[in-house]
Amino acid sequence: MKKRIPWLAGLLLECVHVLAAPSQVVLDSVKGPSPPNRTLHGRFLHITDMHPDPYFVTGSSQSSQCHRRSPGDSDEQRAGYYGTPFSEYCDSPLTLTNFTFDFLDDHWSSEIDFVIWTGDNARHDEDDMIPRPLDEIFDLNRAVAKKMEDVFVRKGIPVVPSLGPNDITNEFASIWDTFIPPASSKTFRQGAYYAVEVIPDALAAISLNTMYFYHNNKAVDGCLFGNSSDPGNLQFEWLEEQLEMFRARQVQVWITGHVPPHITHFFPECYYRYTELSLRYQDIILGNLFGHLNVDHFYYVEAADLKVSHEGDTLLSQSTTIFDDLMTKFEGLPKTSAHLNHDDYAVVSVSPSLVPNPYLPTFRVFSYNISGLESFSVGAVGKDEYLQKTKKERTSRWNHLPYRHGNHENSGTQCRSASYRDSWRCKRFQPWRSDGRAPSRQNSLWSPLGYAQYYMPKLGEYDEEDEPKFKLEYLTYPLSSLHGIDNVTEIPVPLANLPKSLRQAGVTKSKFAPYELRDLTIPSWLDLACKLGKPREEKLRKRFKKFMYMGGKET
Ligand SMILES: *[C@@H]1O[C@H](CO)[C@@H](O)[C@H](O)[C@H]1NC(C)=O
Ligand SMILES: *[C@@H]1O[C@H](CO)[C@@H](O)[C@H](O)[C@H]1NC(C)=O
Ligand SMILES: *[C@@H]1O[C@H](CO)[C@@H](O)[C@H](O)[C@H]1NC(C)=O
Ligand SMILES: *[C@@H]1O[C@H](CO)[C@@H](O)[C@H](O)[C@H]1NC(C)=O
Ligand SMILES: *[C@@H]1O[C@H](CO)[C@@H](O)[C@H](O)[C@H]1NC(C)=O
Repeated sequence: MKKRIPWLAGLLLECVHVLAAPSQVVLDSVKGPSPPNRTLHGRFLHITDMHPDPYFVTGSSQSSQCHRRSPGDSDEQRAGYYGTPFSEYCDSPLTLTNFTFDFLDDHWSSEIDFVIWTGDNARHDEDDMIPRPLDEIFDLNRAVAKKMEDVFVRKGIPVVPSLGPNDITNEFASIWDTFIPPASSKTFRQGAYYAVEVIPDALAAISLNTMYFYHNNKAVDGCLFGNSSDPGNLQFEWLEEQLEMFRARQVQVWITGHVPPHITHFFPECYYRYTELSLRYQDIILGNLFGHLNVDHFYYVEAADLKVSHEGDTLLSQSTTIFDDLMTKFEGLPKTSAHLNHDDYAVVSVSPSLVPNPYLPTFRVFSYNISGLESFSVGAVGKDEYLQKTKKERTSRWNHLPYRHGNHENSGTQCRSASYRDSWRCKRFQPWRSDGRAPSRQNSLWSPLGYAQYYMPKLGEYDEEDEPKFKLEYLTYPLSSLHGIDNVTEIPVPLANLPKSLRQAGVTKSKFAPYELRDLTIPSWLDLACKLGKPREEKLRKRFKKFMYMGGKET
């Protein structure tokens, strides 16, 4: 979570030597932990920012971080049994984190293929009376990791964690021992980033250590060109090799991490490198999944960000809200995304947090295209030919695509001037080849299809006797796809996990389906952005905003 800078800076100082001085090795092709022979469901869970707090006390005051009672506080300021909704100061009680794991175990663990878990697993350190020692961070992380292991890993479901700002790599290599493939362990210990093939030889997740890109980290050099020992630059070199290797094998990739790649959070040079790689490898990157901000939203990175003449983003005022920033950006888009060159965009999805600070507990479940592999068991014969054939087609198509230069417009005087000469934007990148039929661009094997997001709207009302409820908040799918198309394709959300009103086929209007996106490819996301960019789409904008802030404070 942002705005927690003081402790972060302190902690970073303590571990500067660990964060700042990795001498890294390049990681070769890595196969994930061999999952048992299981059927694919075409779904995965994304959960982020849990922040469990063992010192949380029911009935305490928010002004004490929900740790004790301060006289004079009004009743509505008191901590609830399962957490304090819309809290500015409090973290998650263990009743909430435990309940969430039990809930995921009961309702989702037999419905998903893997888990993306994008960090922040300790309480905040803002209570002077209970300072948070390093050991406590590790203990909390150990406890959450143990739950992940019990609920998912033991059932053969790979879990892909990434590091939040408060973490130290060696200890984590040991805490996350069961999640990180042995072959990645060395790189992980040095840089805390790694890749896992969540479906061997077909689908991978790359977990980045965004602390090396995060502009609040004073221990790194911010990917400055020419500093080949900067951990951010080393991580990008590693990432590029991974992407190159995955492309050669036609393994599709999710990029995951804690702090989202945005010019207001990343060092500018790290942001340019991220943007360039996400566009150059658009043909194998299915999407970018991040947390940290606790606010539900999406945005895009674009080729225009790489132009030296384009300083639009850096000028965005930081005093406005995320919503206003997004609308300003979306308003600059054309009527429909058909007028955009889709080669030039990549989309970042930021998931809201489990911690009810400053909103309500949330998690989301994505679905992706496994048509043709429905009865495919990992390791089983039969569907393998289909997979190999798809890979072959994709490789051969890609090999015949024309090259283009991502930053060809950057040349001449501007790039010779002192302010740009040493920017990555003025360096010659490898040429790009963009594939309009790649899974990130057109619904096909492994394409993201949508997600259903769950939340706990009545968090404040539950007590010891009253079991809390996660409810569907919204889903991105068209209502017509919830029951499968012609009963042939897979169902995106298990019917039992839908509200009663959606369990029957034939519903044509529902508050749960505000967007009706046919899939989550880049063109679909951009269509939504274009639509949101029209001021006359007032109703849609209102709903989008409601999902962002859940009626709470607009950040
Ligand atoms: C949460 O779960 C852990 C381990 O399963 C247990 O030790 C702890 O007592 C639980 N806490 C609460 C508040 O339920
Ligand atoms: C490169 O960056 C690292 C930290 O990221 C810093 O310690 C080092 O001094 C930098 N090297 C040069 C040559 O600037
Ligand atoms: C996986 O299961 C299928 C069918 O149940 C079986 O034919 C196949 O041999 C199994 N593969 C492995 C690697 O166990
Ligand atoms: C998956 O992609 C194929 C094209 O490769 C398409 O025919 C199918 O309808 C897609 N499945 C879903 C569930 O969208
Ligand atoms: C799909 O299944 C439902 C019931 O499961 C059935 O009523 C309907 O006719 C089926 N539709 C098609 C196109 O087969």
